[in-house]
Amino acid sequence: MNKKYISLSLALVMSATMSGQNKNAPVNEDESKVQAFELPDLLTCTGGERVETAKQWEKKRRPELLKLFSQQEYGVTPRQTGIKVKHELVSSNPKAMNGLATEKQVRFTFTGKNKQTHQALLLLYIPNHAKGRVPVIVSYNFHGNQTTTFEEDVLFSPSRDLMKKAGSDNWVRGEQASRWSYELALQRGYAVATMNYHDICPDSPALMEHGIPSLLPNYNVESREANEWGAIGIWAWGYSRIADYLVKEKQIDKDCMVVLGHSRLGKTALWAGVQDKRFKVVISNDSGCGGAALSKRVFGENIARITGNFPHWFCPAFNAYSENEASMPFDQHELLALVAPRHVYVASAEDDSWADPKGEYLSAYYAGPAYQLYDMQGLPSATQPAVHQPQHYDVGYHIRSGKHDVTAYDWQCYLDFCDKVFQTKSDR
Ligand code: GCU
Repeated sequence: MNKKYISLSLALVMSATMSGQNKNAPVNEDESKVQAFELPDLLTCTGGERVETAKQWEKKRRPELLKLFSQQEYGVTPRQTGIKVKHELVSSNPKAMNGLATEKQVRFTFTGKNKQTHQALLLLYIPNHAKGRVPVIVSYNFHGNQTTTFEEDVLFSPSRDLMKKAGSDNWVRGEQASRWSYELALQRGYAVATMNYHDICPDSPALMEHGIPSLLPNYNVESREANEWGAIGIWAWGYSRIADYLVKEKQIDKDCMVVLGHSRLGKTALWAGVQDKRFKVVISNDSGCGGAALSKRVFGENIARITGNFPHWFCPAFNAYSENEASMPFDQHELLALVAPRHVYVASAEDDSWADPKGEYLSAYYAGPAYQLYDMQGLPSATQPAVHQPQHYDVGYHIRSGKHDVTAYDWQCYLDFCDKVFQTKSDR
């Protein structure tokens, strides 16, 4: 190999690393190789001041941390997007799921200041037997509303045409039904609302312009400012737009809204739940790197890998921590803590080492001191519980057997936790 070639490849590797594009960075999945690391202290402000009260937390430390996550990880959510939203009931079926639920399908039409429009489709199930207003679980799906159930009248999410790869079985009716325990949730008195996340913003840098970004003047994911939001920020914004609709639904209890997400959508649920206080329970299912898992353990997926493979998810400033987690002035336990005094729940799967189950647990554990400020109880032990031993304090956690997925067991745990939080009325 000649010298010129060597220095050229070195330059390429260096610039890739500096901009966080190192898809091939090494990955550690061996617990014995986790290096000692120091977590930033949740209750010590940047200037060194110690937080002793909930008031100090709310006035100083919480805003300071929120700013760090906005500017360094997910990007700043614009205060005003100028986007208007119209809702239209497309269909209503009072006898869905064998009479268990009323099914509503609602078209969201977003109009930007530039007069461009964009549409998304919400699917909502409301339990029929419930008297009065009911709690609701809001959760995006990966491949369209029609994949979450075999109910024939569920419309295909509009993003299918854009996102479905030819010949793939994804996007087929019922394909992801095992991830959606609708009947269980409905029987227990919960409404469930879902939307395809690509309807808000297609999950590909090349296709984002077919979503909400088309309504944002001057937004270009490839040439963003260091702190400009990315796809996770835009999806989180979309969760809030769903909440805007649900608070106006007569049968929904607006004080009992839950946001739940799996994997990349678990990262999104956390970021949405942190910013939007209308979500009273925030649930991260197997969210891993950039979600619940501590970055500084550098176990499983790491920042170099995630920013390399998914450059559009976070803001460009996050790339600075690629292969340099030790330099981070924050970590994900502080994100979870921002949900306090509302409730956060983290779930892991035993065979999901890519998402670092232990790092997910520790993060939930180290969020505890924020809850103590409110006389609430975080997770009691730094030792991760065994599988199928849910821990339901003011912070919730469980790890189940099996792979990266959402299962009926996960739903059952979430419903038990929400019941406890909402002290479900017997008539639900
Ligand atoms: C990839 C990615 C994860 C993400 C997951 C998912 O595995 O590396 O960060 O959570 O996809 O969303 O399914």
